[in-house]
Amino acid sequence: MKQFYGTPVFEPGQDAESEQHLQIFEAGDFDLGKIKAAIEKNQLVLVRGMAFERAGDLFGQLVDHYDLRDSYDIQMQLVAHMMEDREAVDDVAVTVNERGPFQIIQPHAEGDSSSPLDLFGLHCRQNAVDGGENILSLVDQDADHSLLKAKEKAIVGQNLSPASINELRAEHLDAKDVLASCDAANRVLKETAAGKVVVRPVPLRKEKSVISGQDMYTLWDNVTVHDHAFHKHQFELLSSLGILKDARGDNYQDYLHVEGDSDWAPADTESGSVEQTAGLFTCHILYKMQADDFLILNNKAWSHAVNNWAPEEVRKLTAMYA
Ligand SMILES: [Fe+2]
Repeated sequence: MKQFYGTPVFEPGQDAESEQHLQIFEAGDFDLGKIKAAIEKNQLVLVRGMAFERAGDLFGQLVDHYDLRDSYDIQMQLVAHMMEDREAVDDVAVTVNERGPFQIIQPHAEGDSSSPLDLFGLHCRQNAVDGGENILSLVDQDADHSLLKAKEKAIVGQNLSPASINELRAEHLDAKDVLASCDAANRVLKETAAGKVVVRPVPLRKEKSVISGQDMYTLWDNVTVHDHAFHKHQFELLSSLGILKDARGDNYQDYLHVEGDSDWAPADTESGSVEQTAGLFTCHILYKMQADDFLILNNKAWSHAVNNWAPEEVRKLTAMYA
């Protein structure tokens, strides 16, 4: 078994211990009850040999079981059509984000602290021949998360009328708090005569998981994408595992990916050293998805991250979340 700053890195098929964190089923012979039991214990579920249509059906059954239908339909239909970097697939899934040559993706959970999501599924049609491995990381709920900040939107203005608040919130429904004033350094997303919508850093809070019933710290995208510590951690982890396609040099910033339309950009925070970031995880599972693999997990318990690949490679993955 490999380790990174003392945190185990399990490879299914090579490390027997990975079985305590990952349950594998075959598409022709799976038991929905066992799948639910596994994800409720915060285990990863991998169903092999599952075509996209059946994966969508299975995910839909889980969505209904956990009463997440409204969230799922909004994410896969309404939100997907508004996003620059994603496309809806049959209204049950979305394509994963486009990225530039050799970029890596830092650990993150799907969604953000203002729009939290509970269930995540990842289906693979085709993976890169060289590269494209996923790193699934179980967040250590007993670790010190006090240095992490979530970037959240807020509406700011003096004596705002309900109509002014509605006008400001129109394209920013996830801006929940209304403040009289804020730090002048906060990024402004929108401004009207009455006030503005800003992005501000707030301490990370625990939230209840619909799947496991636990109060959990989740490494949302609005916690990790702006934090250099997570990009640096991912770069060094991939380098230490010897799987990084190192065509861009030896600086993590050369591989960093932040979406152009991300409300959480730019990357302007740093929560600690690589060692401190490594201490936030119980373990990592290194797994390269194969065609018709379907991965299901408690989105609040696990972060996911991806290695890079050369631009001529073809990688077709779709995501489902609710
Ligand atoms: Fe993701």
